[in-house]
Amino acid sequence: MTDKTGGPIGVFDSGVGGLSILKEIRRELPNEDLLYVADSAHVPYGEKSVEYVERRSIAIAEFLIGSGAKAVVVACNTATAAAIHSLRGRFSLPIIGIEPAVKPAAEATRSGVVGILATSGTLASDRFLNLRSRFDSQIEVLVQPCTGLVEQVERADLESDETRMLLERYLARLLDRGADVIVLGCTHYPFLAPLIREIAGPDVSLIDPSAAVAREVRRRLEKEGMLSAGTRTGTERFCVSGSVAEGAPIISRLWEGRDIEIGMLC
Ligand code: DGL
Repeated sequence: MTDKTGGPIGVFDSGVGGLSILKEIRRELPNEDLLYVADSAHVPYGEKSVEYVERRSIAIAEFLIGSGAKAVVVACNTATAAAIHSLRGRFSLPIIGIEPAVKPAAEATRSGVVGILATSGTLASDRFLNLRSRFDSQIEVLVQPCTGLVEQVERADLESDETRMLLERYLARLLDRGADVIVLGCTHYPFLAPLIREIAGPDVSLIDPSAAVAREVRRRLEKEGMLSAGTRTGTERFCVSGSVAEGAPIISRLWEGRDIEIGMLC
């Protein structure tokens, strides 16, 4: 019988956003090796065509699988919307994606109005429109594309005046219409959660699905008999498609300042 428990969990995003998911996977599964790809030469995905994001997602999944990954986590709402269907059709290993947490938001709202912050690509996707339509009769779902925010996080600029101004503008459009729950529908945005909380105030709840995704990764691996049998602490490796010199300090900073092993996606 082949051993299905070896090999890293592959995780990818257009850039550094998926590190918000990777952190939770590390917390949930301390013994697993993790291989993270930031497609930094092609970020942002949110303004690109579905075909483009799909092509990039397939290329990265091939790289991860070629590097021995036993499962692939699409740590990107935009890539999940554009590509998860083709990834699952093409590759037989477990592929776990992420989508805006509309259901938990519907359960949490008291005003009956929830706001979704996400990329234009996610919000325009059939996958999201289907998801949203399931809740239309229960709650009002407001959507806000957040052009420019991904770029701020890619620079690890989490609290400058420019970042604050963008967030104030986007959040005002939701809060002024009564939203009392805000869904972080892009994996870059959890890095902005402290600033979002400060702007939105204590009466507004934020929904960050990262921990739920990590639990889903555990469930899938458990179900498939793929959880690592080892007891040693897992390793992390990072790859970028853009400049390593530019990517390394940003990834290290967002990875809680720790030293990292980083290479080129090839
Ligand atoms: N972090 C990604 C997401 O969750 C992609 C952002 C982008 O590249 O536009 O949608």
